[in-house]
Amino acid sequence: MSIRPSQRIASIGGYAFAEVDRLVTELKQSGADVIDFGVGDPRAPTPDVVRREAQAAVDRHATSGYPSYIGSPTFRTAIAEWVGRRFDVDVDPARHVTTTIGSKEAVFHAPLGFIDPGDVVISPDPGYPPYTRGTMFASGENHRYPLRAETDFLPDLGAIPDDVLDRARMLWLCYPNSPTGALATRALYDEALDLCRSRDILLCSDEAYSELYFGDEAPVSALQSGLDGTLAFFSMSKRSNMTGWRCGYVVGGENEIAIFRKLKTNIDSGTPSFVQDASIVALADEEHPAAMRAEYAQKRDLICDAFVAAGLSECRPASTIYVWQRVPDGVSAEDFAKRLLDPSIALVVTPGTWLSAAAGGPDDPGEGYVRLALVPTMEQCGDAARRIRSLTF
Ligand SMILES: Cc1ncc(COP(=O)(O)O)c(C=O)c1O
Repeated sequence: MSIRPSQRIASIGGYAFAEVDRLVTELKQSGADVIDFGVGDPRAPTPDVVRREAQAAVDRHATSGYPSYIGSPTFRTAIAEWVGRRFDVDVDPARHVTTTIGSKEAVFHAPLGFIDPGDVVISPDPGYPPYTRGTMFASGENHRYPLRAETDFLPDLGAIPDDVLDRARMLWLCYPNSPTGALATRALYDEALDLCRSRDILLCSDEAYSELYFGDEAPVSALQSGLDGTLAFFSMSKRSNMTGWRCGYVVGGENEIAIFRKLKTNIDSGTPSFVQDASIVALADEEHPAAMRAEYAQKRDLICDAFVAAGLSECRPASTIYVWQRVPDGVSAEDFAKRLLDPSIALVVTPGTWLSAAAGGPDDPGEGYVRLALVPTMEQCGDAARRIRSLTF
């Protein structure tokens, strides 16, 4: 007997981050003191208040039962209130909000609800892999727009070819941007929504990093430009160190949320009730995200100062938990990442080309960059900074 993978599964390579994991294991086995900036998975604990609420909620939900498919009314109300406070947008928990099992599944599944085979989904390059994988699994076609330093890592929407727009059904934006750390402007969201509305394209805004920013002003949301025709994807993972809890939510127009709820009802059975209850407490507390921002800013400065001291470009991000570092001229992203994997340096970073569509080359917007996720401890970031400063080119 021979069980073979589907053509879809067979056609894709390994998940890029799984390869990072493998490299780390190999380096650790070699006995090197590895500092891992590879995967964007925070290693600090979930805040106490959130954990305590989850413990109590487990008892409250002693008789488990399936959770609500769309999120409990109290969680949806808490989300609507948070969106109102944070973005000054009026959101109805009954019509404009639905919960997800973390953002990844929501991003991946969304095309199944909105595209037909052959339809185009437009997404950033480099970008979070589920934008394109979700399209592929829904038998759609991907079109990617480049994010480059020359345009502040913002898309040139006017450069998307007309025939692509004609066939497009979804357009992804991701700000605060992973991996570049760039922030969107209100003008970008207005322009994108105008374009999408004029072409019957769903505007999908991935705002998983909305609370991780370094300036005085909090990032704007696509929701501020309008709900109709928009779905904004949020996550508890990075805001509250809850990656393992699997909780997110989507906010948007009534029609779009109704379609998304119908899709999700057919896929899963909702976010666990005790996770929803704990997320309500997390959303009510703005102190822990503020403390996290201060800590990420300190780590960012340690690392960015060190790269500058080693003669590399200044690449200090405005947001997210990532540094998108330009590598020295004439060195490829992968070669630079390998250089950092030398046991004397032993830093794990992700080559930009692993996050972009093309496999390297001058036109690849991922070429010439490496991504560092600022998840090691402050002490490890200090050690890493010392090792970076010792690099010579
Ligand atoms: C850009 C972006 N969007 C969404 C997610 C998904 O987060 P989660 O599934 O943990 O909610 C991530 C995770 O790293 C991400 O980087």
